[in-house]
Amino acid sequence: MVNSIVEKTFYIYTYGCQMNVHDSEKMLGTLEEAGYAAAESPDSADLIIFNTCAIRAKAEQKFFSQLGRTKFLKRKNPQIKIAVAGCVAQESKDEIRKRAPYVDFVLGPQNIHHVKNLFHVPKQTLVGENPGISTQEYEMRRQSSSRAWVSIMYGCNNFCSYCIVPYTRGREISRPSSSILSEIRDLRERGYREVTLLGQNVNSYRSDVDFVQLLYEVGRIGLDRVRFVTSHPRDLSPSLIQTMADISSVCEHLHLPLQSGSDRVLERMNRKYTYASYREKVLMIRERIPGVAITTDIIVGFPGERDRDYEATVDAIEEIGFDGMFGFKYSKRKGTKAFGMEDQIPEDIKATRLNRLLRIQEDITLRRNRSLEGSVQEILIEGPSETDHDMLMGRSRTNKIVTIRNDGEQEGAMLSVKIHRARHHSLDGRK
Ligand code: SAH
Ligand code: SF4
Ligand code: F3S
Repeated sequence: MVNSIVEKTFYIYTYGCQMNVHDSEKMLGTLEEAGYAAAESPDSADLIIFNTCAIRAKAEQKFFSQLGRTKFLKRKNPQIKIAVAGCVAQESKDEIRKRAPYVDFVLGPQNIHHVKNLFHVPKQTLVGENPGISTQEYEMRRQSSSRAWVSIMYGCNNFCSYCIVPYTRGREISRPSSSILSEIRDLRERGYREVTLLGQNVNSYRSDVDFVQLLYEVGRIGLDRVRFVTSHPRDLSPSLIQTMADISSVCEHLHLPLQSGSDRVLERMNRKYTYASYREKVLMIRERIPGVAITTDIIVGFPGERDRDYEATVDAIEEIGFDGMFGFKYSKRKGTKAFGMEDQIPEDIKATRLNRLLRIQEDITLRRNRSLEGSVQEILIEGPSETDHDMLMGRSRTNKIVTIRNDGEQEGAMLSVKIHRARHHSLDGRK
């Protein structure tokens, strides 16, 4: 028998948050380690994987319509295998089986290590809990050679009433600090400049150490930059704020999702903090960490949101003056507590509320960016700008995109640049 010399190939579609982007790096690494090769496009792949997101209806629809188009590839070549991984796989396994019987594998977020077997096994659904997830080691093929994602915990226990994540990713579980630290030491040896510690609620990290202790340990490794996402306002402690101030590699940026400026809505969202307590924390952060950038997430049109609740959010946005904001229209998710709430808000009202909020924030972002004109910022180069190859793009420690003339600096270079012009979504710099 002659072994086939044609390598089997795979293609991964990735939707959703940083956890999914990083999970795709894990699947890619695992498959390459097992001897398979990444295909240039889905048309030529033997295995097509969808790493899906269920956070809002729109994210799910995007996946289902791409899946529908992929059906034709399979019709032309029945040998192709199709796998659905990620949050939709976990949450809607039955719907996937019903709507798309041609899907071969359904793989929840705790089961992605099984990708290496998919070329050999028959149709399968793997969505069970994986008790070993906190010590699961993965081969990884990282997208960047200078900035790396590092998982520190999985799942979420918060059950915000609108959110599907606790159902798709399971209960919170933290990785032992020793394996996190050895992963980061290894990254440093390989020349990485920056790590971002990943978890749905990093402030509740707890293994042999807590998050503050972990951050001190990470700080000792000596990378140039350390970031973390996401922080929950309830769990962000004064000692964490002090730790951010004390450790020089921890960047002056905090993403702190507010969700709403109305205490009544926050309570119905099960967020467990008030706007006043959120504001207190922001004041403390700004006092202890000069130049810090704070960004946030807002949901408009949560069930029962009255005009005056919405106006409270507008006031909050104006009062705090965030460096950036991601705004979303509330999207009903089956299985969550808010799904069954009365007083769902009509789509057109949600859209009007969101558009106005986005416009207000645009001005605030520009104002915050303008305050940086004339300052010198350290930037980490990511590569040529997507829109103009004569320009390079990098990021400041405060996570702002900075563009400079392309003089051939490579990804991973660190430069000091002077900001000469602020734009809505980026800063223009000069060396
Ligand atoms: N764990 C993180 C982020 C979770 S998802 C956190 O707690 O901050 C990212 C954002 O999506 C959330 O902050 C929220 O603003 C938004 N989001 C989550 N569920 C949503 C829903 N059902 N409809 C609209 N936006 C939602
Ligand atoms: Fe969702 Fe809330 Fe958990 Fe964030 S903290 S993932 S919004 S349940
Ligand atoms: Fe989406 Fe799952 Fe992340 S629902 S936002 S991919 S945790």
